Amino acid sequence: MHTITDAIHWVGYIDWNLRNFHGYITPKGSTYNAYLIMDEKPTLIDTVKYYGFDEMLERIRAVIAPEKIAYIISNHTEMDHSGTIDRLLSYCPNATVVCSPKGHEHLKRHFKKEWKFKEVQDGETLTIGARTLQFILTPMVHWPDNMVTYSPHDNILFSNDGFGQHYASTERYADTVGIEEVYREAAKYYANIVLPYGTQVMKALGALGGLAIDMICPSHGLIWRRADDIARIIAGYRQWAQHETERRVVIVYDTMWKTTERLANYLFRRLDVNGIPVKLISLQHADVSEIMTEILYARVALFGSPILNNRILPTMAALLMYMKGLKPKSRYAGTFGSYGWATVGFKELESSLAEAGFEPLTDGFYTKFIPDETELAGLDGIIKAVGGKVNT
Ligand code: FEO
Repeated sequence: MHTITDAIHWVGYIDWNLRNFHGYITPKGSTYNAYLIMDEKPTLIDTVKYYGFDEMLERIRAVIAPEKIAYIISNHTEMDHSGTIDRLLSYCPNATVVCSPKGHEHLKRHFKKEWKFKEVQDGETLTIGARTLQFILTPMVHWPDNMVTYSPHDNILFSNDGFGQHYASTERYADTVGIEEVYREAAKYYANIVLPYGTQVMKALGALGGLAIDMICPSHGLIWRRADDIARIIAGYRQWAQHETERRVVIVYDTMWKTTERLANYLFRRLDVNGIPVKLISLQHADVSEIMTEILYARVALFGSPILNNRILPTMAALLMYMKGLKPKSRYAGTFGSYGWATVGFKELESSLAEAGFEPLTDGFYTKFIPDETELAGLDGIIKAVGGKVNT
């Protein structure tokens, strides 16, 4: 049994085999965290994905007969958290589903059912016995319906997707898994899910600012419970929400006949010898989610592709499409690549990066077939421009 406090139990599902969460690559799996609060009116916060129902029910039964559940709080409609409300209600048909007004609308659209709903407004409370839970609406972090639940009795924030990580483990706490590893996964989660919503995250952090928090219980991954770790992840969210970058460069490329790779290696070596922190990532060996985590931190990103049938390579096109949705702001992008006879594809590369939110670093460097040493020096314009951005 996973006991969080004497009265609060983790009753979620560990998704060991999850490797792709709607495009977010998850090599470490995930968890869908549901929390059962044992008070006069037993209350469940969130449920799990449809295939985790039996495991959740078994965990609930280890604590209480499910028919005794009085409230099911749905902090967020997305089906990894709400997908089993319907089945659970068949065991506790008198339970009330508590959600935001948008959550109410979304749940009805998903399930087409008229359950006992209780809509809550921002700041509204619900007394379940010794505890009076407080609801804080956090729209567009990352859906319109999102809210978080706070228990002043326990100083616990049930933050749903916020502060979460895709990480499968029987451990429940970030500090027992290893704070550096969990923090990195939380950054990855932010980069791949929350990144477009910086303004809304800042608003939510403002609303949470006055709360005494001894524990943050997210709906994915590990719980934050040490004061230093809680402060760090909140500071991280503030940094990421404001698109504060670091003195770092990431080079992302794919290659056809090794020429673009040669350009990428040249850029890497010259930046590295100049003392600029830089990572070199081949799209043939890394996934888009890992790349987004590097972009979260990098002030400058350099993108390289050869031309294939007048277009950039499909791997780069897929990354660009992903980034157009995630919209990294306040970052610079440079471009490079090789071509045989047509350069029109590079326009697509440049315009897609602009559409994704990057500011252009300098003119792209494009070389016809294979450059000699003199031509390679044409990349020095990019190197100089990078220096101008990361050394100021
Ligand atoms: Fe983990 Fe937005 O659902």
